[in-house]
Amino acid sequence: MGLSVVILAAGKGTRMQSNMPKVLHKIAGKSMLQHVIDAAQQLQPEQMIVVAGHEIDQVKASVAEQEVLIAEQAQQLGTGHAVDQALPLVTEGNQVLVLYGDVPLIQKETLKQLIDAQPKDGIGLLTVKLKDPSGYGRIIRNGEGRITAIVEQKDASMEQLAINEVNTGILAVGSHKLKQWLNNIDNNNAQGEYYLTDTIAMAANEGGVRACHPASPIEVEGVNSRVQLAQLERAFQKQQAEKLMSEGVTLIDPARFDVRGSLSCATDVVIDVNLITEGEVSIGRGTHIGANCIIINSKIGANCVIKPNSIIEGAVIESECSVGPFARIRPGTQLAQGAFIGNFVETKNTVIGQGSKASHLSYIGDAEIGSGVNIGAGVITCNYDGANKHKTTVEDNVFIGSDSQLVAPVTIGKGATVGAGTTVTKDVTPGELCISRVAQKHIEGWQRPVKKQTKNNLEDKK
Ligand code: UD1
Ligand code: CA
Repeated sequence: MGLSVVILAAGKGTRMQSNMPKVLHKIAGKSMLQHVIDAAQQLQPEQMIVVAGHEIDQVKASVAEQEVLIAEQAQQLGTGHAVDQALPLVTEGNQVLVLYGDVPLIQKETLKQLIDAQPKDGIGLLTVKLKDPSGYGRIIRNGEGRITAIVEQKDASMEQLAINEVNTGILAVGSHKLKQWLNNIDNNNAQGEYYLTDTIAMAANEGGVRACHPASPIEVEGVNSRVQLAQLERAFQKQQAEKLMSEGVTLIDPARFDVRGSLSCATDVVIDVNLITEGEVSIGRGTHIGANCIIINSKIGANCVIKPNSIIEGAVIESECSVGPFARIRPGTQLAQGAFIGNFVETKNTVIGQGSKASHLSYIGDAEIGSGVNIGAGVITCNYDGANKHKTTVEDNVFIGSDSQLVAPVTIGKGATVGAGTTVTKDVTPGELCISRVAQKHIEGWQRPVKKQTKNNLEDKK
């Protein structure tokens, strides 16, 4: 029997106050819907169907590159009606797992348990006990403790409202029975909706209902407002932070730490406050990351120091490098072992050789810099002529004086020296000194201009 995952995502999410469908709001840089899809994908389902309605085109576009089917629910007539819209797409005889696009932190292990627990001709139901059950459907059990029904908050008696075991909404059921039971539900209830939860009482009379519980209640928490979205974001980041700490990473403040993607760290990495990572990032053993850094899709080696306020994207940084403070390392940058990039230095599509330094205020783009090179303050590669990009090559042990411009395409040979303030426009031969500085003039007895006295600046002085 194959597995069909049905993800409900048609609702408007009125309380989000948004033009974007609720399920496309993000947690850790990824839409809630995508979190759910990714969790479900790990079960290797035969098919995945998203029920969309409100702003369906945006939902469709967000999953366009994935093997996900879309069922349209034009009017949101209730969760039972929503699942019914997916049924024509479900492979006959499959097991159906119902998930919610706005319950993003559900975990594979919990879902695995649930699909294994589903009785034949019955329902596997994910329930949870909450201190404050208000708003949720209550789980009704008989004298023997067996589940007999779910009663929605708005339809519940005072006695039923006191029950603290609630319906998470997530359930597993055979498609055959599901179809039969959905045909028998009506909307004679307080909300005038077709409730999926009404199938529970029907299942109780046939194959039975077996409950499962999530490892942590956070897994089944839904998002209805931006406040809840922010709460889940923090809870999720806390989980990621705690996992890294248990693996030997020091986080100076786990509450000021955001991973949007995947971050893998070797032991004894120390991360100061306000790091944001995006995409795939890895950090080697013993590396220190200063405050307020942003690191995107990059690999950083062991024993590096990334000083505060540095932005690193699409880079490979080998061991023992020093970067920042205030460095901007752009895509295509490779720093070999022990390279030193100081403050206000920008690199792009550039290889910097072993032990080479650019300590202050430089732009180095489309360049290949050898080892043992010293790039003085304010040096700039002029890589762009307004139409095309050109390459700058700087061979090993070159010294480039401050405030020089290297007009590409140009090569500076091994061991050459470029005097400060030089505009290099032609290749420099290995070992020579290249200098294009204007001769210095001296004008004796020079008088500085004096400010004229006017009515206005006299008044300024008062
Ligand atoms: C539902 C359950 C309730 C459970 C709660 C858990 C029912 C009748 N009630 O209540 O027992 O405790 O979830 O959060 O199932 N949706 C559609 N189409 C619709 C209606 C809803 O796609 O026509 C989607 C919504 O976008 C949302 C989800 O289904 O993602 C739940 O709908 P919602 O209206 O929030 O259900 P609740 O009243 O919270
Ligand atoms: Ca809800």
